[in-house]
Amino acid sequence: MTSEPASLPAEIIEYIRECMARENGESYLIPVLQRIQKQFGYLAKEHMNQVSQLMQIPAVKVTGVATFYHFFSFIPKGEIRITICMGTACFVRGADKVLAKLSELLAIAPGQTTPDGKFSLECARCLGACALAPIVLVNDRVYGNVLPADVPKILKEYGFEKPVQPKPVKQS
Ligand code: FES
Repeated sequence: MTSEPASLPAEIIEYIRECMARENGESYLIPVLQRIQKQFGYLAKEHMNQVSQLMQIPAVKVTGVATFYHFFSFIPKGEIRITICMGTACFVRGADKVLAKLSELLAIAPGQTTPDGKFSLECARCLGACALAPIVLVNDRVYGNVLPADVPKILKEYGFEKPVQPKPVKQS
């Protein structure tokens, strides 16, 4: 289970101080949030509150800016990040069916992380390898020409096995 990070690391606090020493320091809010997301994979509420205090920007404004931009995430990413391309080339070659299979097996929707914090699932626009459509990216590894039937094998490479449903016990 992923826990809420307690505090921003010293190097990010230092970066915020450098920004605030410049003219219009508050205008560096987006680069600051980008650094935090790069390090943690998402923006935790605790971190946004710290940014609000250090940059003297109301918390509601920090949240407002962060939610405005689609590239910020507020959900902790899994240890294994699965991204499926839903760009045109991938979509017409069945990416939606591959996504449905991933969702079904992991029991999560795009944008979610499994309760054990291991896998997260996301959709992306063209990942730049249309010739291999449909594309699935697992962390930094690219899988091309993926069919729904390939999904269990790919997940198994990362230690995922669909839990076996217990057989119903016959009553005598
Ligand atoms: S549309 Fe999927 S890689 Fe280009």
